[in-house]
Amino acid sequence: MGNGIGVTWLEDALRDIGRQMEQAIGQALSAEPRPGELTRPERLLAAMRHGTLNGGKRLRPLLMVECARAFGRMDDGVLVAASALECLHSYSLVHDDLPAMDDDDLRRGLPTVHKAFDEATAILAGDSLLTLAFDLIADPAVHPDPAVRLTLSRDLARAAGVGGMAGGQMLDLQAEHKTLGEQEIRTLQAMKTGALLRYACEAGARLGDAGDADVMRLRRYGEVIGLAFQLADDLLDLEATPEAMGKATGKDADAGKATLVSLYGADKTRAILHQLVDEAASLVGELGDAGQRLSDIAAFVAFRGH
Ligand code: IPE
Ligand code: IPE
Ligand code: MG
Ligand code: MG
Ligand code: MG
Repeated sequence: MGNGIGVTWLEDALRDIGRQMEQAIGQALSAEPRPGELTRPERLLAAMRHGTLNGGKRLRPLLMVECARAFGRMDDGVLVAASALECLHSYSLVHDDLPAMDDDDLRRGLPTVHKAFDEATAILAGDSLLTLAFDLIADPAVHPDPAVRLTLSRDLARAAGVGGMAGGQMLDLQAEHKTLGEQEIRTLQAMKTGALLRYACEAGARLGDAGDADVMRLRRYGEVIGLAFQLADDLLDLEATPEAMGKATGKDADAGKATLVSLYGADKTRAILHQLVDEAASLVGELGDAGQRLSDIAAFVAFRGH
């Protein structure tokens, strides 16, 4: 998938994080049972691999790695935490594509997991990826202090659960049958997509032992990225081709999905995206080179595929 952003370091970084996630997740999904496990059914493992080792953009891992780097943390333990978040995100996609949800056949340019396998296997693959995320985030390599690992674990649960991503998916499904106002759509998006992106940034700062003020600043940066990301996803659903996206497009309007693009129109959405990129840049402006990198990522998130 081309990013069309033309920023050399970011092209390299996306390629690197792609390779690093393939390796880290591939290792977590090896056939060998871990202590405490009995066996790893081959079909379930294959479905989990299909749902994860398939060329996503790896945006959440990139954000986590860059936010940790901003505070000087650059070792492989960060990649373990990033792989946990990417497993959780991939689970959300496997379930999002199920017939009972968005009923999609194509994801990351490949058949969705329930198409390549079957629905029951896709449900279990999602369940197992969600659980694996908590196994990985508890890995001592993530942070030497167990209290930090506990915070990262609890925050991940809250970003993913009833008051985060899964709750947002509920609101998204309910919104097919009723008209939402602007604030309601913003809340829905902050939960369904924003929560995991915000977590990526906040957790990255915690991995780097950032102080409270910096954790809050990167949390806010993550919120802005989350909104920009979903606005761009909704715009791309309206304007991009399935070939460019590796997934079906043009489905939101058909399904009556509540999006800000449906409320504002494409031009106003683009203007808001410019404002969000500026806001993200000002939040990280004091972080030197790392801040510049985080600004570049904000522009990529907002204008990818355009
Ligand atoms: C797609 O997320 C689903 C949404 C949250 C809108 P991404 O666009 O990050 O998907 P991948 O991981 O790159 O495939
Ligand atoms: C999915 O949003 C968000 C999550 C999986 C939590 P969408 O339904 O818009 O994502 P796509 O467009 O299918 O990737
Ligand atoms: Mg959906
Ligand atoms: Mg979907
Ligand atoms: Mg979408």
